[in-house]
Amino acid sequence: MSDLTIEVHLGPDDRRVALERDVREGLTRRPKSLPPVWFYDERGSRLFDEITRLPEYYPTRAEREILVRHAAEIVRTAGVSTLVELGSGTSEKTRLLLDAMAEADLLGSFVPFDVSEEVLTAAAVAIGSAYGCRVHAVVGDFHRHLAAIPDADDGRLVAFLGSTIGNLDPAQRRRFLFDLDAAMTRDDRLLLGTDLVKDVDRLVAAYDDPSGVTAAFNRNVLAVLNAELRGDLRPDAFDHVAFWDDDNAWIEMRLRARQAHSARLAALDLDVDFAQGEELHTEISSKFRPEQVSAELHDAGFVVEGTWTDPDGDFLLTLARPYC
Ligand code: SAH
Ligand code: TRP
Repeated sequence: MSDLTIEVHLGPDDRRVALERDVREGLTRRPKSLPPVWFYDERGSRLFDEITRLPEYYPTRAEREILVRHAAEIVRTAGVSTLVELGSGTSEKTRLLLDAMAEADLLGSFVPFDVSEEVLTAAAVAIGSAYGCRVHAVVGDFHRHLAAIPDADDGRLVAFLGSTIGNLDPAQRRRFLFDLDAAMTRDDRLLLGTDLVKDVDRLVAAYDDPSGVTAAFNRNVLAVLNAELRGDLRPDAFDHVAFWDDDNAWIEMRLRARQAHSARLAALDLDVDFAQGEELHTEISSKFRPEQVSAELHDAGFVVEGTWTDPDGDFLLTLARPYC
């Protein structure tokens, strides 16, 4: 029998208030934009999972490769028996960390943390039964509910994988790292996954695959709005756009209206006009240089204890501790 708790910090009402605010604000400003957190309903999470298996999408494979080679050293260096994972999704790669902790006789509990309740619950149940460890899942927004991470006597390893940190803009990222540092104790460790700057063609291909999975993922955010806010946005009326912004060192994703048209979100009593070619900003995916990651961590109050890359040098894992 596994010991499983699911703690909900983002209930349906709370979620609804946040969605309404983000959509009203995002669709009435210029340029129009939507925050990435709303991509991940059940279909969105499934499409993301498909993205991770695309031949063009190298980050998941590169990060997994690092974990295959170095998880044992990472968990030994961290030396704690609680693994927390922010934006955990399916927690698939995370199993390599759990395996290494079990191997080192360190596996006490696992704390997956995600906004997407369905995916989180499925992952929590699967891991509880596969590992027999305590699982304390937290449904929450990592911008608002970091204090909900349960305490642990001997410290926690907080993993933030998949370069999800790259989906925050620089100001949000800075704020997030400061908040995370404030939520951690001196026994805790942070394991941060960041995608690295590389050849532009590979970067763009990873976010604009020929099979159209990424395009479907991007358009899905409109379906989420329709379902939750009684909307009639037409996902098929938009092109998926992904390009490299060299000044900002990020891939930017947008949805571009093919023709001038209007849509209505009845639950918000909001009519939205799109001009032909008008772009809705949906996501950025920042790419990093290793020294920049260390510098940003240092600014936020962390000391780097170790860094690992895959053999091709595509992706970086950084282990850090708060210097409080
Ligand atoms: N860690 C996994 C999944 C990455 S996809 C991997 O490396 O493959 C990003 C995940 O973060 C999704 O599961 C999404 O639901 C979650 N997420 C996005 N914004 C979030 C937020 N503000 N708070 C908590 N989870 C969030
Ligand atoms: N953290 C992932 C990344 O930046 C998220 C992601 C992958 C993503 N593919 C995407 C987000 C496509 C939006 C659209 O790589």
